[in-house]
Amino acid sequence: MKRDLLTLADQGPEALGDLLALARALKAEHAAGGNPPLLAGRTLGMIFQKPSLRTRVSFEMAMRHLGGHALYLSPDEIRLGERESVPDVARVLSRYVDAIMARVFAHDHVVALAQWASVPVINGLSDYSHPCQALADLLTIQEKLGTLSGVRLAYVGDGNNVLTSLLFGAALTGMALTAATPPDYAPSPEVVSRAKALAGPTGASLQIGTDPAEAVAGAQVVYTDTWTSMGQEAEAAVRRDAFADFQVNEALLAGASVDVGVMHCLPAHRGEEITDAVADGPHSWLFDQAENRLHAQKAVLVDLLTR
Ligand code: CP
Ligand code: NVA
Repeated sequence: MKRDLLTLADQGPEALGDLLALARALKAEHAAGGNPPLLAGRTLGMIFQKPSLRTRVSFEMAMRHLGGHALYLSPDEIRLGERESVPDVARVLSRYVDAIMARVFAHDHVVALAQWASVPVINGLSDYSHPCQALADLLTIQEKLGTLSGVRLAYVGDGNNVLTSLLFGAALTGMALTAATPPDYAPSPEVVSRAKALAGPTGASLQIGTDPAEAVAGAQVVYTDTWTSMGQEAEAAVRRDAFADFQVNEALLAGASVDVGVMHCLPAHRGEEITDAVADGPHSWLFDQAENRLHAQKAVLVDLLTR
């Protein structure tokens, strides 16, 4: 039966570990100058309702490395759920392509695509979660620190799709995640209880608070994301006020571990959630993290299309 990647919460700890191992192996093969054509002749359809740099280019290059082809379908072309219903889009595309990647506003849309498509569907970011990002993030932390279990990760900022996926990823890999968000921008109770349920068997610790300095104290990794996600632009001014004390800057990092790594899924809004000095400074892992989107997604594609 076909499988999908809609949220990391659908993965077991073992399946997630296997995906990360596959990503490491594919990255090593690429570095050694080889790219086995594991998906020769296969095609990925990529539906975008929102802009993208990393997701679009890394999926396109992932398919190219693997000997396949990716098809970019812009927001104006498909107009998912407007020009045509989601079930019809899913069924038509399934007749043409071997897998679908979709970046959508409403998570329900990617769920419906998966329900109606006869080919695997990958969530390339919804308002609920960003599983491909979290996979690349876990791969990066594992490479930098040699492990995930017990790693102290602090997240400072909005309780958004990126934090949701990090919570699921941290829960499944036994990490210690402490998040600080403004009180009105915490992750939903549904997300927190779902993540805590996943954390039971792995011993992960997940804490959600409102104090950035407290969250960052002793952290090995500090993570942030935009204060205003795509689709929330009308709230930007209100959010700038609400998040004013949630900037990752050098003063905040002074309370973290001396060799702390800084992460951001990008795009960054320099001077808002992160300063130039931190984004471009010695602790920044930002561009290694962005590169790992490619390697993590190659693993997802190989896993969904060949296993
Ligand atoms: N991090 C991320 O998903 O970037 P894009 O929006 O550029 O794809
Ligand atoms: N939280 C951000 C992530 C962008 C990759 C957004 O949804 O816009």
